[in-house]
Amino acid sequence: MEALLRVRLTLVLFFFVHLSLLSRTSSQEIQIVNAERRIDLTSHIIKVFVTLKVENSGTSPALEILFAFPPTLVDHVALFKAAATVGKRKKKTYVPLDVKPTELPNAPNGTKYFSISLLNPLSKGETATLEVLYILTRSLEPFPAEISQSESQLVYVRDSAILLSPYHVKQQITLIKTPSTRVESFTVVAPSNRAGTELKYGPYDDRPPYSYSPILVHFENNNPFSVVEELEREVEISHWGSIQITERYKLVHAGARHKGVFSRVEYQQRGGSGSSSFRHLLARLPPRVHSVYYRDEIGNISSSHLRTDFRKSELEIEPRYPLFGGWKATFVIGYGLPLEDFLFESPDGRRYLNFTYGCPLTETVVDKLTIKVVLPEGSKDPTAMVPFPVEQHLETKYSYLDVVGRTVVVIEKRNVVPEHNVAFQVYYNFNPIFMLAEPLMLASAFFLFFVASVSYLNVDFSIHKK
Ligand SMILES: *[C@@H]1O[C@H](CO)[C@@H](O)[C@H](O)[C@H]1NC(C)=O
Ligand SMILES: *[C@@H]1O[C@H](CO)[C@@H](O)[C@H](O)[C@H]1NC(C)=O
Ligand SMILES: *[C@@H]1O[C@H](CO)[C@@H](O)[C@H](O)[C@H]1NC(C)=O
Repeated sequence: MEALLRVRLTLVLFFFVHLSLLSRTSSQEIQIVNAERRIDLTSHIIKVFVTLKVENSGTSPALEILFAFPPTLVDHVALFKAAATVGKRKKKTYVPLDVKPTELPNAPNGTKYFSISLLNPLSKGETATLEVLYILTRSLEPFPAEISQSESQLVYVRDSAILLSPYHVKQQITLIKTPSTRVESFTVVAPSNRAGTELKYGPYDDRPPYSYSPILVHFENNNPFSVVEELEREVEISHWGSIQITERYKLVHAGARHKGVFSRVEYQQRGGSGSSSFRHLLARLPPRVHSVYYRDEIGNISSSHLRTDFRKSELEIEPRYPLFGGWKATFVIGYGLPLEDFLFESPDGRRYLNFTYGCPLTETVVDKLTIKVVLPEGSKDPTAMVPFPVEQHLETKYSYLDVVGRTVVVIEKRNVVPEHNVAFQVYYNFNPIFMLAEPLMLASAFFLFFVASVSYLNVDFSIHKK
């Protein structure tokens, strides 16, 4: 019986695999009429914008478009988004499309893909315009790998002059924007040229599927290469009126390593600018923050400035020393927020926290981000809603006055960029009777203390009387 079932399952599976392969082969009849790629290298976080005009030159309708990456690049993709352009000229709007990482059997040279689901099936002869944005982290290689305090930082970036694609590309162009006009060298793939801070590759006509032409650009980039190797954000909800945030940072300057000794005199003479080191960090916090502190292993650091208005707060912090390539800083930022700005009740009676994901530091990459939402005691059945894939599990935390401990929703993600700073929610059930748990514990503690004092006094008296 069981064997029979297994055979059937295998057959069904086989059928589905076959079906999906069929639809894939038919979508190979896609061609890209025009591709425009803009690569922004002005930060240490690389942003790539691609506009694709796709056409179905086959016979069956196409449901998805594949976007290819060489295997070495795909691990650096922190974010991949796609949208369809709807309407013409002034009435243009963008509709976000579903994307998911995909592997294909027999992909040439281990090519990896993202599959973009189209809004409507693309019939024979029809065209659609897609906008793609992807973000790459840790993809600039400092060269030289070590520089002295007064030197500028130069980096390499590797890519292809031609868009890697499983489809035939009729016409394409690539524009690369560098942070300054100092470009040491770039691979020439005619026609290619440079004007100011822009490198232009193309236009190239009629490139067959999987065309690739490696390029190397060597340029100056003195932006702060601010990378948090590990960030733990603890968000503790107390139904007594506040949310307490504690953020533990392990920050590193991920640029060219610092060579030689650090001279504070030289640093101050040059006003601390001109090189790749950085002195200040800017954290964007919600409006109405209070009780802000900033400390490291040694203690509280007072050199921070908080500016607040009704929309946001900006906290500028200054580590004890400027950060040079390879240097690290470990610190903690803490603050309180009013509960009513972030905790709500959903129509079905559940409570939910609506908070911002990601890292508050600007232009910063987080290698590993852990968000711990500590729910009030007595909360049940939590569910977290995050608009991108994350890992989740539950923990229990005990603090003083806790009876059964607090449920902690732990959300983890690798390779986080500022574009991940979007709202996420944690829903949970809460029985208001638990609001009384803490006061009851306090009251009983006082009562016990009272009883103990009285009995102590009694004993004391009895000794006196003797
Ligand atoms: C695979 O890589 C090799 C070496 O880099 C290259 O010569 C070849 O054209 C590639 N094949 C395809 C199908 O991209
Ligand atoms: C640091 O500052 C915070 C908030 O102002 C305060 O609660 C804490 O006691 C201070 N710690 C030290 C070691 O000064
Ligand atoms: C969460 O907050 C954001 C603004 O910060 C808002 O746009 C969004 O609608 C809220 N989501 C929910 C489910 O309340």
